[in-house]
Amino acid sequence: MPTIAVVGTQWGDEGKGKITDYLAEDADLVVRYQGGNNAGHTIKIGSETFALHLLPSGILRPWIINVIGNGVVIDPHELLKEMEAVRAKGHSIGGLRISDRANVIIKYHRLLDGAEEKNRGDKGVGTTGRGIGPCYADKIARYGIRVGDLLDEGSLRERLDLVYPIKVKQIALLGGAEVDPKELLLKDLQAMGEVLRPYVTDTSVLVNQAIDRGKKVLFEGAQGTMLDIDHGTYPYVTSSNCISGGICTGVGVGPNKVQEVLGVMKAYTTRVGSGPFPTELIGELGTELMNKGGEFGATTGRPRRCGWLDMVIVEHAVRLNGLTQLAITKLDVLSGMKRIKVAVAYDVEGTVVDHFPASLRALQRAEPIYEELDGWEEWDDDDARRMIERGFEALPKNLRTYVKFVEEKSRVRASIISIGKERDKTIDRRKV
Ligand code: GDP
Ligand code: IMO
Ligand code: MG
Repeated sequence: MPTIAVVGTQWGDEGKGKITDYLAEDADLVVRYQGGNNAGHTIKIGSETFALHLLPSGILRPWIINVIGNGVVIDPHELLKEMEAVRAKGHSIGGLRISDRANVIIKYHRLLDGAEEKNRGDKGVGTTGRGIGPCYADKIARYGIRVGDLLDEGSLRERLDLVYPIKVKQIALLGGAEVDPKELLLKDLQAMGEVLRPYVTDTSVLVNQAIDRGKKVLFEGAQGTMLDIDHGTYPYVTSSNCISGGICTGVGVGPNKVQEVLGVMKAYTTRVGSGPFPTELIGELGTELMNKGGEFGATTGRPRRCGWLDMVIVEHAVRLNGLTQLAITKLDVLSGMKRIKVAVAYDVEGTVVDHFPASLRALQRAEPIYEELDGWEEWDDDDARRMIERGFEALPKNLRTYVKFVEEKSRVRASIISIGKERDKTIDRRKV
């Protein structure tokens, strides 16, 4: 792998954390390029479970340099809490590096996030409430405060003098809660800056030098293609470019530096928050998938909406990310189902549509056109162990047919098959 990107092909929570941790075995650097602590990446090693939000998913491998790139928005309170939690479980965070150009989520961003959602009423996005959107909005409006500013009192004061009064007015206008006094914010930010100082560096230089030296670099996406600010189900999206294109701006590397792009695809579809979801299963089947798959948000604990696999979405992801490989996760969750449906196109008022439409109105009218496949039997832990040992061909025949169906429709090879939460419940077809 010299460089590989791991991206979500759906609405997030596809299992990027598990797959990144798995692939990190062969990596030297793991690099986050967008999003913030809206992400929740779960890693299970033996009986221990970690839910990472800001720390890259290579953090549990002690030799790895874990980079938070400039495209990530960082809530320093949350980052420090997470660093402490990982340390408390006996892991080193010495390999952490944080971009001096990353924008900082400040308390007023969280207040604004809440106030904006309230104002949207029944048109709410269902954000994670972490201040992500308002922080990215400030970045683009050139009102952002960056990690580098936390390390320099003069520059932090200058920035806050400009931005603080505007934020106070905005929050008051939207009826949000009161903001902390400016001096208190400043002191708090400065104190956190001092703790983070040893980790802060020019991460573009670091990552480019590593690539030039032949190091193995893994870029870890957060959220998923359908939550991408440009290509997702706008406005029911997050505020960053989750697709592989976000790597160039979010890390500071040229497009020729990303060699492989692996899309993580859950064997069915889930979504947290509001917005269109053509293959959503409302009722018993949806609830069954939710319970069997443990589909509750790793960040907010909200139940995830569940539905059938949607190849219209996967085609969108293949095209936008330039996917060269797929990792299919949670195939174990579908086991025991008699018949499994997969959407291959939509019927929008009599027209067959096979590229994901931009228009919310079209999506509201989209009726999935399904193909049906036979399900496969459930297995126990002993069976799972045997199958993992023997590889892909030992998996149930109908499961293999399902994987081949996805490969044929997407025209991308499924190089990794995941049949359980744990690191070792993985069948690696790159090795054959
Ligand atoms: P991410 O945001 O893409 O990293 O995904 P999350 O961690 O939010 O959600 C994926 C959930 O599925 C987590 O609870 C994982 O532990 C779990 N998971 C990942 N792969 C598999 C799998 O193959 N089978 C099962 N049953 N669970 C999995
Ligand atoms: P990972 O990395 C699933 C969703 C929120 C909401 C929308 C906007 O774990 O896959 P935001 O707080 O980002 O402004 O919310 O995006 N969302 C996610 N859904 N997984 C995530 O991350 C998500 N991060 C944000 O639920 O609908
Ligand atoms: Mg998640």
